Amino acid sequence: MSQNQEEDKVKTEEDWCKFEHIPVMPKESIELLKVRKGGTYVDGTLGGGGHSEIIASILKEKGKIIGIDQDPEALKAAKNKLALYRNLIEFVYDNFRNFDNILNKLNIKLVNGVLLDLGVSTYQLKASQRGFSFSEDRNNIAVCLDMRMNPNQSLTAYDVINNYSEDRLREILFKLGEEPFARSITRKIVQIRERKPIVTTNDLLEVIRSATPPKYRYSRRHGHYASKVFRAVRMEVNQELSALQEVIPQAVGRLKKGGRLVIISFHSLEDRIVKRAFRDMASTKDDKKPVVKLLTKKPLIASREEIESNPKSDSAKLRAIEKI
Ligand SMILES: C[S@@+](CC[C@H](N)C(=O)[O-])C[C@H]1O[C@@H](n2cnc3c(N)ncnc32)[C@H](O)[C@@H]1O
Repeated sequence: MSQNQEEDKVKTEEDWCKFEHIPVMPKESIELLKVRKGGTYVDGTLGGGGHSEIIASILKEKGKIIGIDQDPEALKAAKNKLALYRNLIEFVYDNFRNFDNILNKLNIKLVNGVLLDLGVSTYQLKASQRGFSFSEDRNNIAVCLDMRMNPNQSLTAYDVINNYSEDRLREILFKLGEEPFARSITRKIVQIRERKPIVTTNDLLEVIRSATPPKYRYSRRHGHYASKVFRAVRMEVNQELSALQEVIPQAVGRLKKGGRLVIISFHSLEDRIVKRAFRDMASTKDDKKPVVKLLTKKPLIASREEIESNPKSDSAKLRAIEKI
């Protein structure tokens, strides 16, 4: 048995305590959130609880955190990590796009701050059975094309790859993946699936490999040659852009005066949505009364030291606003 197979086999309860994710831009995000004792804060992307742990340590038993995640495995890990702060935290299994509903159910009208740290955690990416990622070392392990953060939703990566029309698939790879070979990869997907469905992450990896030139595959300038396609499919499966678009006005509507919304994004389209929404709400154009003020005219990015110790932070962009 190879070392990778061995590792897969021995995943146990204990591994949840080792949920792997280093919070991105922790100092900057928490400072901008201006956490103060007695306040109520929403962590809309609880993940492994890294950011919430810092918020909880500042609140010191006085205040509340609503920790939302659509992945029950993340919630389980966060409950473990945040056991010390159990009285402070309400764990919510839901999609942050249901922000108003979530707060209504908890009888909470307004909050002091909202944090969104978008995308997937390192744990999710590395959990081989979830199908978010690919690894050329694991060629002999069959992993279904899944990629759902919420295992109870019906749409999976299998559906996107095998059932979407060629045009739609190509647009997704172009738009969400910024994949230069979107056309040839999509063509190949369609040819192959006419004969038999594309079932595993390795099947998809093989299709991408056969539809891209060696020069592209061997150039590591832009990361692994398959990462753009995998990211695009993941964003489609989890409807990440529409969830972001929906949550921003709800979160701002629930902020107290002086309350803050901090968003960390990892994709240019996400950052564009955040930038436009924030600018629009802060605008005084045509005698409009602004709802918020911008705390970050330009997005903050991670320091060189942080990127060295946590490469995921390389693409992070942080923007924040304050309710007027
Ligand atoms: C980057 S991780 C957050 C990590 C966290 N800040 C920490 O320090 O551990 C993003 C998390 O948000 C969750 N998530 C992403 N989109 C979501 C959505 N629309 N609704 C609820 N949870 C979401 C993912 O399942 C994942 O656990």
